[in-house]
Amino acid sequence: MSRIFSNITELIGKTPLVRLNRLEKEYGLNAEIVVKLEFFNPTQNVKERIALSMVEGAEERGDLKPGGTIIDLSSGNTSISLAAVAAAKGYKFHAYLQDSASNENKQILKAFGADYETIFTNPRLFELVAEYGGDAMKAFGKLLEEGSVALNAFATNQMESLDNPKAHYRTTGPEIWEDTDGKIDFFVTGAGTGGTILGAGGYLKEKNPEIQIVAYQPGVNSRPFENQAPEQPELLGVHPISGVPFIAPLLRDKGKLWDELIDVEAPDAYDAARAAAKHEGILVGESSGAALYTAIQLAKRPENAGKRIVALLADSGVHYLSTPLFEL
Ligand SMILES: Cc1ncc(COP(=O)(O)O)c(C=O)c1O
Repeated sequence: MSRIFSNITELIGKTPLVRLNRLEKEYGLNAEIVVKLEFFNPTQNVKERIALSMVEGAEERGDLKPGGTIIDLSSGNTSISLAAVAAAKGYKFHAYLQDSASNENKQILKAFGADYETIFTNPRLFELVAEYGGDAMKAFGKLLEEGSVALNAFATNQMESLDNPKAHYRTTGPEIWEDTDGKIDFFVTGAGTGGTILGAGGYLKEKNPEIQIVAYQPGVNSRPFENQAPEQPELLGVHPISGVPFIAPLLRDKGKLWDELIDVEAPDAYDAARAAAKHEGILVGESSGAALYTAIQLAKRPENAGKRIVALLADSGVHYLSTPLFEL
């Protein structure tokens, strides 16, 4: 029987779970660390799930016409995933990129035929931030709204789209549940838009309320905006989830979606990502490093001996080769 897919979007999701046996030994851990490798998605990151879900949602609602233009704002991953989905479906894509997006991601965007502008050089953003009393998230939303009028485009708006958590509720969560046969004690994830924690975390909690959702966020020295020093490392893609003005719109009014929140500084995340590469042959990015660092902290607690911790590793380290994470 032939096994030929009709386009690349059919290969999104169904990413594997892998147990980190060697890392457990290296750190002397008595709990099981299992990672979900989102770099198995065609654009090597978790965001391809929501890119497809947001584009198909727009198609179903008639918001996106054949050959139309899509826009969105991201630190890089959502943009390259939307650019790939757009290319595969015949749309144009224009990205509003955070300036911290890596060169690799900018090159990939160009390869997919997309274009981009970096937002922190856009004076309109600063006017909007002032207008909204410092609420950056509101300013981003308005910038997109204005961009969609100017470019006659559909803004997928990952920060607010319900098709974002829906993708995780329909795919990421069930995949973890099924691939572990429901044997999972902790789920570790971060929050950028909040889509993963809301959709996958929400699904797992529904299946078994005993599962502990542990969220990581950048520690106080690794937060963009609050800590503007250019030499200061930040954790790309992950935002603080316990403070204003960073509460992602999707998480507003949702109550507490996590059982524990752990602060991770960038150097600790980098060390964990480098350890995964060195001891497991798994090359991941910095938010994945933060997820791993968090999982290791949980695994070190004596009361967690014998428990299973599943950490979602959001993207590939290949996209960070020119950044401090893996530069020579
Ligand atoms: C590398 C990376 N890790 C984690 C996240 C967080 O995922 P979510 O937006 O579903 O909260 C993002 C995106 O925001 C990301 O790009």
